Amino acid sequence: MERDSISAPDGHDAMTPFVLAHLSDPHLGPLPQPRLRDLAGKRAIGYLNWHRKRHMVHRRDVLADLVADMQAQRPDHIAITGDLVNIALPPEFVAARTWLDSIGPPHDVSLVPGNHDAYVHGARNHFPSLWADYLRGDDATPGSAAVFPYVRRRGPLALIGVSTAVPSAPFMATGRLGHDQRNALARLLPQLADEKLFRVLLIHHPPLTSPGRWAARLRDSRELLEMIARHGVELVLHGHDHRHATVWLDGPRGRIPAVGVPSASAATQGHNHPAAYNLFTVSGHAEEWRCDHRVRGFAGHGSASETSIGEIGTVRLI
Ligand SMILES: [Fe+2]
Repeated sequence: MERDSISAPDGHDAMTPFVLAHLSDPHLGPLPQPRLRDLAGKRAIGYLNWHRKRHMVHRRDVLADLVADMQAQRPDHIAITGDLVNIALPPEFVAARTWLDSIGPPHDVSLVPGNHDAYVHGARNHFPSLWADYLRGDDATPGSAAVFPYVRRRGPLALIGVSTAVPSAPFMATGRLGHDQRNALARLLPQLADEKLFRVLLIHHPPLTSPGRWAARLRDSRELLEMIARHGVELVLHGHDHRHATVWLDGPRGRIPAVGVPSASAATQGHNHPAAYNLFTVSGHAEEWRCDHRVRGFAGHGSASETSIGEIGTVRLI
């Protein structure tokens, strides 16, 4: 039987499943050499942490292998949920922009920032300008700085990007959406539902705080969960916990999957979940979406040369 071919505004055939890849928390190294005055306060702790432990956890060779595997899957779009840098030194943002450009053009890659991207007060202005091409909604003026939430329509998807990236005290990694973003979301979500789009919320912090993660929680989690319960989204993608996670949130028409992913650069040694990424295949229409979730990445432990990337699991979410 011949299929009708209906093209979305971006040229995607509406009958063809849309594949969205999701990776997070690359924590790009190596750290640039800081000036002494850059290491005041929280950055000094982060700098020591990087050199004591984190540089062995977050490895560029692991990240490169993971990205190569992801690109071989030829996803239609790539979502990255934050923490590109570590202690938010200005040269880290420049290096991260080069890395972003290697992932794909801004049209095909949507980014939201994480708490490490706003590690200290003085650093929070870097990402909205340097990474703006990857953070800009379809309606934004070309050349403008990032404004959240943003909306990008790609195939059957509405990608809604929010920022929870705010500076926090030493030993804290909290995030916050704030009133303005929450109010804008409350207007956008019903509007995008009326457009019959598959709404994907991109957020760095998990909407529901994981056990033992109080110091790293989303501070207005309760308000966000209430809004999701009222207006719904089809899928929530997050990073931050550096672990595989699928949590089901209450929605107006049933349960909503919130899916986390390990750090894209996490070495296979140690107790972290090794590097992985998500692939979501979305098909159907607003009355009957179907979303299949595949996970690919490193499994088990061992040196990078002993462990290869493969399919970790696959499940139908919707
Ligand atoms: Fe992170």
